[in-house]
Amino acid sequence: MPENGDERKKMVVSTGNAEIDTKMGGGIPIGSLTLIEGDSHSGKSVLAQQMLWGSLHDGFQLSLFTTENTVKSLVTQMQSLNIDILDFLLLRKLRVYPMEVARLGEKAVGILLQAMKRERDRDMVFVDSLTPCIVHTPVNKVLGYFEECKRLCSDGMTIVTIIHSHAVSQDLLIRITSLCDAHLRLRTEEVGERLVKMMEVAKIRGASKSTGNIVSFEIEPGWGMKVIPISRAKG
Ligand SMILES: Nc1ncnc2c1ncn2[C@@H]1O[C@H](COP(=O)(O)OP(=O)(O)OP(=O)(O)O)[C@@H](O)[C@H]1O
Ligand SMILES: [Mg+2]
Repeated sequence: MPENGDERKKMVVSTGNAEIDTKMGGGIPIGSLTLIEGDSHSGKSVLAQQMLWGSLHDGFQLSLFTTENTVKSLVTQMQSLNIDILDFLLLRKLRVYPMEVARLGEKAVGILLQAMKRERDRDMVFVDSLTPCIVHTPVNKVLGYFEECKRLCSDGMTIVTIIHSHAVSQDLLIRITSLCDAHLRLRTEEVGERLVKMMEVAKIRGASKSTGNIVSFEIEPGWGMKVIPISRAKG
C-alpha cells in the first residue's frame, strides 16, 4: 500500500504518462501479474522504468531484479530519461538487485523465485529481464515461475516480468499470457523510412475496453516515452 497518507491512493501502476495510462485502461491494477514482451530494443526496459518511477511517486515500495544493469548504470540510464531514483534508493523505497545468471544455468529461475519471495514486504517486484534466466530451462519450469508469481500476487504483491519474444515458443507464450493478468507487447516497425516503436495492450484483466489498444511512441532523451499519433508515425 502507498504509505504517503494520500487519500486518493492509486490502485494502479501508473507510468507517470497520462496518455499511456489511458491506453492501458488507466493503468495496471495492483495485485496483478504483468508480462512485458517484445523484441530487443523495442522499449521494454524504458516502459518498466517509467512504471517503476510512477509507482515510486505514488508511494509504493519496489524491488527490481535486473540482468541488464548495475545499480550505477541503472541510475545513469534513468537520469538520461530525466528520472532520478537516487533518493528512492537511499531511502530504501527502491531496492535493486543486479543478477549475474550465466553461471547459474538451470538453477537461475529457482534462485530468482526464492529471492522474490524474500521481498514479500514490498508492494511491487520488477524483473528485467527473465530471458537470461530461462535459456536452459525446461518449459514446465518456466510455467512454474509464472504460477509461483501468480501465488505471490494473490498474496498482494504486484509483479512485472519482462521477456524477449524470441526466448519462448509461440505455444509457451500463449500458456504464459493466459496465466498473466496483463500482457503488453512491444515491437519496432518500419513505417516508410522510420523505425517506430509500438506498444499493444494485448490484455488487461478487468479493463477489457483497453484490450487491443496500440500506441506508437518514440523515446526522447531527457523525456522518455513520447506518444506519437499513428497518422504521424505512418507519415
Ligand atoms: N535516455 C535515452 N535517450 C534516448 N534513447 C534511449 C534512452 N534510453 C533508451 N533509449 C533507446 O530506446 C530504445 C529502447 O530501449 P530499451 O532499453 O527500453 O529496449 P529493450 O526492449 O529493453 O531492449 P533489450 O531487449 O536490449 O533489453 C533503445 O533503442 C535505446 O537506444
Ligand atoms: Mg531491456
